[in-house]
Amino acid sequence: MRAGWYEKTGPAFDVISVGEMGTPQPGPGEVLVRVHASGVNPSDYKRRANVKTPAEFPRVVPHSDGAGVVAGIGAGVTEFREGDRVWVYSAQWRRPLGTAAEYVCLPQSFVKPLPPGTSFAEGACFGIPAMTGYHAVHVGGSVKGKTVYVPGATGRVGAYAVQIAKWRGARVIASTGGGESQRAEIRSLGADVVLDRKAGNLADEIMKDTGGRGVDLVVEVDLPGNIAFDEGILAERGSIVSFGAASTPSVPVTQTGRRARNMGLHFIFVYLLDDHTFAATCEGINEMASAGFLKHRIGGVYPLAELAKAHHEAEHATGTGHFVVEC
Ligand SMILES: NC(=O)c1ccc[n+]([C@@H]2O[C@H](COP(=O)([O-])OP(=O)(O)OC[C@H]3O[C@@H](n4cnc5c(N)ncnc54)[C@H](OP(=O)(O)O)[C@@H]3O)[C@@H](O)[C@H]2O)c1
Repeated sequence: MRAGWYEKTGPAFDVISVGEMGTPQPGPGEVLVRVHASGVNPSDYKRRANVKTPAEFPRVVPHSDGAGVVAGIGAGVTEFREGDRVWVYSAQWRRPLGTAAEYVCLPQSFVKPLPPGTSFAEGACFGIPAMTGYHAVHVGGSVKGKTVYVPGATGRVGAYAVQIAKWRGARVIASTGGGESQRAEIRSLGADVVLDRKAGNLADEIMKDTGGRGVDLVVEVDLPGNIAFDEGILAERGSIVSFGAASTPSVPVTQTGRRARNMGLHFIFVYLLDDHTFAATCEGINEMASAGFLKHRIGGVYPLAELAKAHHEAEHATGTGHFVVEC
C-alpha cells in the first residue's frame, strides 16, 4: 500500500516520506479499512515535530483520525461488513500505524459507521476534534438550560463545542480574536452571542448577557492564560474544562474563592476516555451528524503525496479548520 511515515522526529519536510509498504492484515477482532481521508491534528504534528523525544516506533505512519470503507474483517468481528462506510479514531495512539495510508487495521471498537450524507473528509474530523468538543461539553453534567462560554470558537475543537452545546440545549456565548468574518462564521454554527476576545470589556459583556449571574461552563483552550478571567465570569457551581495545550506550564488556582463558590475544574485528554465514555461520545456525534446538525470546517485538502506539506500547513495555521489528507 501507499503510506506516509517518519522514522525520526523533526520538521515535516525533513522527516516525512511517502512510499510503498506492506498492507496490514486484520487479526481477530480487527477491521481493515481502506482509508479515503485522514485528519491532521495538533497531536499528530506535535509528536512528529518534537525533537526532544525520539519517534515512538521505528516507523510511524501518523494520524489518529480517518474515514473510509471496510475492506476486510478479522475473526469474531460482528459489527461490520466489507463495503461499510466508516470513520475511525485513536489509530495512532500508542500504535505505530495510523491513517496516513491507503489501509489501516484497527480493533472494531475504534471503528464507527459513517452517517449517511457525511463525506469521508468530514468523517476524518470526527475523531480528535469532535470527540474532544463533545466530551468537554458533557464532562460536567447536563448543559440543558445552562450557559456555556467557548473561547477559541474558531478552533477545530471550539467550533464543535459551540455546536454540541447548542444541540444539548445550552445558551452559547463564544469569542474569537478574529474579525467580523470569524464572528459571523461562529454565529452560523449556532452561537447565541459572539464576542471579541481581545476587547477590554469582554467580561462586562458576558456578565451583562447572563444578567450578572455568570456562565455555567467554560470550554477552555488556554487555561493558564485565561483562568483568572474565567473565574471572574463563572457562575456559582460553574466549571472550567481545560483541553488545550498550556501556554505556560503552571496554573494559579484561587482556592478560597473557588471553594466558596463551588467551582469545578476538569482536565480532559481525549485519547484516555474510558470505554463507556468513548462509546457514548461516538454515538452522540453520529446522532448529531445523522440529524444534519454538525457543520465541519475544512481548511485544506492534500493528496497523500503531499503529506509533509499538509503537516507543515496545519502546523502554521490556526482557526482555519481541519486539514485532511486524501489517501
Ligand atoms: N486535551 C485533548 O484531548 C485535546 C484534543 C484536541 C486538541 N487539543 C489541543 O487543544 C489545542 C487547540 O486545538 P485545536 O485543534 O482546536 O486548535 P486550533 O484549530 O488552532 O484552534 C485554537 C483556537 O484557539 C483560539 N485561541 C488561541 N489562543 C487563545 C487564547 N489565549 N484564548 C482564547 N482563545 C485562543 C484561536 O482562535 P481565535 O484567535 O479566533 O480566538 C484558535 O482558533 C491544541 O493545543 C491541541 O493540541 C487537546
